[in-house]
Amino acid sequence: MFLFSQPIETARLTLRPFSLDDEADMLEFESRPDVARYLYNEPRTPENNAKELAARTTQTVLLAEKDALTLAVDLDGKVIGYVLLVWLSEENRQGEFGFVFNPEFQGRGYATEAAAEMLRIGFEKLGLHRIIGRCDVRNTGSARVMERLGLRKEAHFVESEIFKGEWGGELHFAMLASEWRASPLSKAEDATA
Ligand SMILES: CC(C)(COP(=O)(O)OP(=O)(O)OC[C@H]1O[C@@H](n2cnc3c(N)ncnc32)[C@H](O)[C@@H]1OP(=O)(O)O)[C@@H](O)C(=O)NCCC(=O)NCCS
Repeated sequence: MFLFSQPIETARLTLRPFSLDDEADMLEFESRPDVARYLYNEPRTPENNAKELAARTTQTVLLAEKDALTLAVDLDGKVIGYVLLVWLSEENRQGEFGFVFNPEFQGRGYATEAAAEMLRIGFEKLGLHRIIGRCDVRNTGSARVMERLGLRKEAHFVESEIFKGEWGGELHFAMLASEWRASPLSKAEDATA
């Protein structure tokens, strides 16, 4: 079980729950076709963005399997992206993480910096044994974030699903708790302590 209790401060960012005040920042990037290109959702409209935001404000606890922790990534008061951690299996201590950022703030390492904290929560607070990340085979930016964080590429599924009207392939990456403990990231100051 994990209950989010206080904002996480990284070197440059604050990770915190979404609030209804974040609507404009969220719509700014989640309405963009380039952001939604490799996500299952389409670019958000103001209506479904507001609905999704309302759901995210409650995603602050991991009490049971399938629960998601979704945190806004705040840079000097502006939400520039979000990171999430889904509890896949309690018995097998498995989780999945993800990250989505505003293109205006990409290329500066913010996604890598924020996503590392989801690995930290998963391994150090929730006690997970393994965390996976998945991306479309064409999503090189996402794959690079996972490699930079030290995840291993475990699989390349070829034309494994129909994605947005065409055959899509998927890469699966993973990290074990033992690999996290050996990683330089885990030695960094625990911002959630
Ligand atoms: C996937 C996504 C988050 C990657 O964004 P990103 O900006 O490339 O990732 P980061 O913020 O970690 O930045 C990394 C880049 O900044 C560079 N960088 C600059 N300063 C850096 C720093 N201090 N630390 C780390 N990297 C830094 C890196 O070299 C890297 O560049 P490269 O990809 O050319 O090697 C982004 O493309 C995105 O949101 N896409 C749309 C949503 C999506 O597809 N999400 C993933 C779903 S699976």
